[in-house]
Amino acid sequence: MNLLRFGVNIDHVATIRNARGADYPDPVRAAELAMAAGADGITAHLREDRRHISDTDIEALARVTRKRGIPLNFEMAVTPEMEAICLSHLPHAACLVPERREEVTTEGGLDVVGGHNRIAPAVKRFVDAGVRVSCFVDADIAQIAAAKSVGAQVVELTTGPYCDAVREGSPEAPHLLRILCAAAEEADRLGLEVHAGHGIDYETVGAIAAIPQVAELNIGHFLIGESIFVGLSSAIGRMRLLMNAARAEAAA
Ligand code: PXP
Repeated sequence: MNLLRFGVNIDHVATIRNARGADYPDPVRAAELAMAAGADGITAHLREDRRHISDTDIEALARVTRKRGIPLNFEMAVTPEMEAICLSHLPHAACLVPERREEVTTEGGLDVVGGHNRIAPAVKRFVDAGVRVSCFVDADIAQIAAAKSVGAQVVELTTGPYCDAVREGSPEAPHLLRILCAAAEEADRLGLEVHAGHGIDYETVGAIAAIPQVAELNIGHFLIGESIFVGLSSAIGRMRLLMNAARAEAAA
């Protein structure tokens, strides 16, 4: 059975820190704890407006993840500023995401079809520098094909619509899950590694973990919220158990 990798996104530790303009809680300490609790990777999104993770955080995260031999997944918009920062730290992976200042969180996937001519040269520069490139895309066949054609090695499928539907009790949820499964199959057929993330919680993780082509999940907001009640290590431990149990059951 192929076990899923578990990337922990620590952005919202920085959101809480920044709410007070203080230096506590420290997202780097959260990353250390997440790694000790069994995270396979640390994910952080340096946004243009620096609303959570800061440049200093990225520097420190690059240092501690390298020291531990744990991959850092640097989420970033495709802009010259972010490209320069990424190339200066050379994280294990860069996950290219869309970014709008007025959004609360990343809303939907990157338009790789429409942005092909801008994205392809940036992907080449990352790949040439040894950074593994992932495109965060909707579960859409055309976007997946475009990710392949710009040279990305990975697609991260957005699980937001499915997770929202489950939370809202929408009858659309099974249909959205089928779309995710078909997208994962297609990405795998094209030779792309498949990741998934956005909005995942204890309730939705099982169905997503059971998709056999999915190699990695990236989870943030729910884990940081849950850690208020049970602690980060426990929240990570429970999520890991649910992921592994769903994967094992699907493979049986
Ligand atoms: N993957 C990507 C590409 C994201 O932008 C985010 C949100 O930062 C996540 C995963 C994690 O989503 P959530 O915080 O809802 O678990």
